[in-house]
Amino acid sequence: MSESEVTPATEVAPPYRSGPLAPAAGRPKRVRIQHLRELKERGERWPMLTAYDMYSAEIFDEAGIPVLLVGDSAANNVLGYGTTLPITVDEMLPLVRAVTQATHTALVVADLPFGSYQIGPEQALTTSFRFMKEAGAHAVKLEGGARFVPQVEALTGSGVPVMAHLGFTPQSEHTLGGYRIQGRGGGREQLIEDAIALQNAGAFAVVLEMVPAEVAKQVTAELVIPTVGIGAGPDTDAQVLVWSDMAGMNRGRKPRFVKQYADLGNVLLDAARRFGDDVRGGSYPDAEHSYQ
Ligand code: KIV
Repeated sequence: MSESEVTPATEVAPPYRSGPLAPAAGRPKRVRIQHLRELKERGERWPMLTAYDMYSAEIFDEAGIPVLLVGDSAANNVLGYGTTLPITVDEMLPLVRAVTQATHTALVVADLPFGSYQIGPEQALTTSFRFMKEAGAHAVKLEGGARFVPQVEALTGSGVPVMAHLGFTPQSEHTLGGYRIQGRGGGREQLIEDAIALQNAGAFAVVLEMVPAEVAKQVTAELVIPTVGIGAGPDTDAQVLVWSDMAGMNRGRKPRFVKQYADLGNVLLDAARRFGDDVRGGSYPDAEHSYQ
């Protein structure tokens, strides 16, 4: 029996998640890379979110988000760095492990940090094997165009699914001259060539970050693998957001493409203030919250 017979495509169509307390027998199967290709073939869009810890991962998994990215954006969303550049493999491994352990359905992608794959295919393999063996990642993501074809070929040839990342690539912010829209003018053809080269090398999806909507539309039409947009307009096959932007945990400046779906930062601020007031005023803990 083939893998596609075991996990028919219809299993990824929502609702395919039954909650963390559901009996194991009732649980849907893990999303696989071929399901994402099938969604593209059927013209069904899908969402992706970042996750960096067990509670958020559990909630997003239950919400039916089919792909969770443990992004190197953990650098500036968890660890307090100013950019994604400083985060290391050793800092990311526990975050990836927390997310894979908390999910039943989502495909978990580990982002390869800056400096952990650029040296060559061997380095990319060594890093990716660590994410898969030590943290249970199902795939990895790397930033960059055709120059990284050798890495993508080595990884996919060795059992590591690869999500590519083109357009604005934050690890290259210093060579790109800051946070700038990519793929305009002459950059358009280069972006398309890069996307095709990465697809041919075996990538199962391509993130397109901060590129004009028309360019993302064209790339999406030219590829058989799904495109995942972030600041790339409405025509990509999937959309990704950093969860702390999407849910309002980040109360600072956000890029124009971010839509905020909740105000968790202010909810938490209010909760912390009320807890503080209760402790200072002596109303917590009361009898209900004490052992007799
Ligand atoms: O690290 C990250 O969160 C990312 C997404 C923005 C695609 O690369």
